[in-house]
Amino acid sequence: MRHQQASGGSMGRLLVTGAGGFIGSAVARRFLDEGHEVTTIDNLSSGSAGAIPEGCTTVIADLSSPHTFDHLGEHQFDAIYHIAGQSGGVPSFADPVYDLQANVQSTLLLLAYAKKTGCPTVIYASSMAVYGDPATLPVTEEHPFSPKTFYAVGKIAAESYLRLYADQGIACTALRLNNTYGPGQDLSNLNQGMASIFLGQAVSSGQIKVKGGKDRFRDLVYIDDAVEAFALAGASARPFEFRAYNVATGVKTTVEELLSLIASSLPFNVEVEVEGSTPGDQHGIYCSFDRIARELNWSPKVDAAAGIQRMAQWALGEAGDKRKGVET
Ligand SMILES: NC(=O)c1ccc[n+]([C@@H]2O[C@H](COP(=O)([O-])OP(=O)(O)OC[C@H]3O[C@@H](n4cnc5c(N)ncnc54)[C@H](O)[C@@H]3O)[C@@H](O)[C@H]2O)c1
Repeated sequence: MRHQQASGGSMGRLLVTGAGGFIGSAVARRFLDEGHEVTTIDNLSSGSAGAIPEGCTTVIADLSSPHTFDHLGEHQFDAIYHIAGQSGGVPSFADPVYDLQANVQSTLLLLAYAKKTGCPTVIYASSMAVYGDPATLPVTEEHPFSPKTFYAVGKIAAESYLRLYADQGIACTALRLNNTYGPGQDLSNLNQGMASIFLGQAVSSGQIKVKGGKDRFRDLVYIDDAVEAFALAGASARPFEFRAYNVATGVKTTVEELLSLIASSLPFNVEVEVEGSTPGDQHGIYCSFDRIARELNWSPKVDAAAGIQRMAQWALGEAGDKRKGVET
């Protein structure tokens, strides 16, 4: 395989979908820095053109439309990192059909395109949402699926398509990301990302509205660690194999603990108000990363205290830049 990196190696032509978004832009930047040729496709529905790293060949198009692939022609990629998608559980209740198109149809079309053009590897951004409210903790990859949102149903369907295409020879990997957070996340998007929702509100108004109890808990994965998982998965995926990996720290962080990490990272007082709930919200989850540690030699490097501190510094800088923009 020509595209082997993570620890150096030959350069490749890579398609990273969704580089206008939080995770896609970070993955694309990593590969560009390593010297790969990177193309991205993004419809800018939740992402922005400004987030796409310089040096990416950019196609603004909808991955759920077959026309997008007609326009791409027979362009051959050494690997596809499929990270674009409708990224929240809440919007999937508002428009399940849109979620199906953005997450499932797009994955199916992309896999068919990979097969048609001879792309050997597809790495997919799946989610811990597939497990719902788990019966046992920490959750391993063998835990049964128990989706609570249309979004999670779509992630399971997309993984099932990956399995089918693995049977046909493509090396397919699903990374079941836990709550990924860090600089670059959209602080104004109140539909996705517990850390970014809380931090965004805190920085813009000094007040956090928490929807749901403070005893809920999550597994917080810093963006650099998530990017490393994508890089390692791409470097080691094997033909005819489907692999699924939790990308997780194995550490339980309650909402209460997250709020206090955020409060202690900011130079002003933050008011917290608890009100309402979110449809399909999982009460609590954290996952085992034993499989990805064993098979890909991945482990998380940044804990929640350090990661939230870094993200808060970045968010304060962003808020300062915005204020300067208003003043000038
Ligand atoms: N952030 C997390 O904590 C997390 C956790 C689990 C899984 N994931 C998954 O990782 C992926 C990326 O998440 P993110 O946090 O970067 O989200 P994001 O919303 O920041 O990025 C998603 C990107 O995909 C683009 N997009 C959406 N639908 C598209 C379509 N039909 N065609 C082309 N582009 C489209 C958006 O414009 C955006 O740029 C998503 O698939 C999400 O489900 C994220």
